[in-house]
Amino acid sequence: MRLERLIYESTATGSTGSLGNLAVILAESQHNNSRTGLTGALAAHRDRYIQVVEGQPEVLDGLLRRLEDDPRHKDIRLMHREPVEERLFAGWAMASARVTPELETSLDALMSERAPSPSWIVMALHEAVVGRAA
Ligand SMILES: Cc1cc2nc3c(=O)[nH]c(=O)nc-3n(C[C@H](O)[C@H](O)[C@H](O)COP(=O)(O)O)c2cc1C
Repeated sequence: MRLERLIYESTATGSTGSLGNLAVILAESQHNNSRTGLTGALAAHRDRYIQVVEGQPEVLDGLLRRLEDDPRHKDIRLMHREPVEERLFAGWAMASARVTPELETSLDALMSERAPSPSWIVMALHEAVVGRAA
């Protein structure tokens, strides 16, 4: 099975600070992704969403089309997409990445274009998820 991982950021049209908004998006994502075999993590920070998603390329294409049509966010910026050997987020249909002070610093850098590399962001999100599970 071919596997790819992508990371994008978008601007929320509603409040990312609202736990309700995030909870609804996460529930929907987990429901759909467990059916389509996508895994990943979602972080909300200031007015942005940052999401890493991994799965079959054509399934990812389908998700990107749905995301483009979703009025809950706009200005989707695909930052990175690459083939991968294995999943980093196996077991997480869509994890909620806890925004730690450390992650906050890197997300701020990312948003101001002083970006650490995309793979660095993926690892930071992974840390945030693993930190939560521990
Ligand atoms: C920030 C953000 C992240 C999302 N992540 C996912 C996701 O991982 N998987 C998914 O199926 N839908 C996700 N969605 C929702 C999709 O945009 C879309 O509303 C949904 O897939 C439509 O599902 P439905 O056809 O079952 O109604 C996300 C939406 C937002 C705003």
